[in-house]
Amino acid sequence: MKAGPAIREERLHDRLARFARIGATARGGVNRQALTEGDREARALLAELGRTRGFAPRQDAAANLFLRREGRDPSLPPLMLGSHLDTQPTGGRFDGALGVLAALEVLEALEDAGVETPRAVELACWTNEEGSRFAPGAMGSQAFAAGALAPEWLEARSPDGARLADELDGTLRALPGVPIARLGTPLAAYLELHIEQGPVLERENIPVGVVTGIQGTVWLEVVIEGRAAHAGTTPLAFRRDPMVAAGAILHTLHEGIMPGDDDARFTVGRIDAYPGSVNAIPERVTFSVDLRHPDAETLGELERRVRAVCRREAERAGCALTLRPLVHMPPVAFPAAMVELVEAGARRAGLASRRLVSGAFHDALYLASRAPAAMIFCPCRDGVSHNEAEDVEPRFVAAGATALLEAATGFLRSSAPAAA
Ligand code: GLV
Ligand code: MN
Ligand code: MN
Repeated sequence: MKAGPAIREERLHDRLARFARIGATARGGVNRQALTEGDREARALLAELGRTRGFAPRQDAAANLFLRREGRDPSLPPLMLGSHLDTQPTGGRFDGALGVLAALEVLEALEDAGVETPRAVELACWTNEEGSRFAPGAMGSQAFAAGALAPEWLEARSPDGARLADELDGTLRALPGVPIARLGTPLAAYLELHIEQGPVLERENIPVGVVTGIQGTVWLEVVIEGRAAHAGTTPLAFRRDPMVAAGAILHTLHEGIMPGDDDARFTVGRIDAYPGSVNAIPERVTFSVDLRHPDAETLGELERRVRAVCRREAERAGCALTLRPLVHMPPVAFPAAMVELVEAGARRAGLASRRLVSGAFHDALYLASRAPAAMIFCPCRDGVSHNEAEDVEPRFVAAGATALLEAATGFLRSSAPAAA
């Protein structure tokens, strides 16, 4: 008799190392941004690994990629396990890849053990979770949940000048034998393993984080337009300098938002001055705002404050202001039954766990609007992520994948149709 399904740690570690080579950076990280050649290569490898085990691949118009391990009743909606393979420009080896490859490991563990599941189990690899090349982040899962890609996304340009619609097309064509299904196929539930990307679990030496929900995120693009003029000849009274406004805005918001609220997060990660000449007052300054809070109402208040400060300082500097909303993700709470399912799985596997709220957004946020969803977190070294130094101890990788397997098998048992 075959043993029950079990995670094969070595296989999972080898896979993580293999995918980390695709887009590897000199500093030990990964640059495999959404819909680039590297992303396509990683998707092709995933599809190939799935095919080898008999897991049928399919994609959709958002270039989400799925692998399906069929169940006893193909008409039942599948249990879906997933995450993403795209990375930040200076990303790490685990953000996203861990969840995708642990999901593959769960499918393989079921296959190795010859387990027939009552319903199919599908791996989902979501497109453009990071959002750094094309906003918004979690684009693939959002499109899947909505059943369509937002038309305005398709014309979006990346900082390298590529158009999203072309990049999606090229990515779909890069997997010629893989059928394209409609966006938003039904699912019974969704589970995602991810690194915590923060310090809580490591500090407490707890291998399994049971995620109760995801805090809200707002992204804005702020464009301040003044007048280009000579740096050496233009006296103060004749200047309409957008950099003056940007400086005042950043100072005011950095001083005001996070020191005033421990749960708030305010980040300006991208700033650009046009034309970017040493001896010209810039015509235009553009910067990004990433604003987060677990409470929807407070997040709304913070956004209003950011907008008001931008308006005030642009006006004071004699400049025009355009505020473009890029992302609006309200906080989400996962259903209690799913949180308990993950907790019970960790307990069965003898793994200590604790509950926590996710500070990062994840594809699970959008899947939660389609089906009961939950997430599991792994501790990561020094709590560091969105950084090439991102690392996870092998024992925590194994624990996270085991917790995912336990949660998955727990769900399959509890959702199995009663025998006739
Ligand atoms: C995800 O990458 C996030 O920015 O939270
Ligand atoms: Mn991620
Ligand atoms: Mn990320």
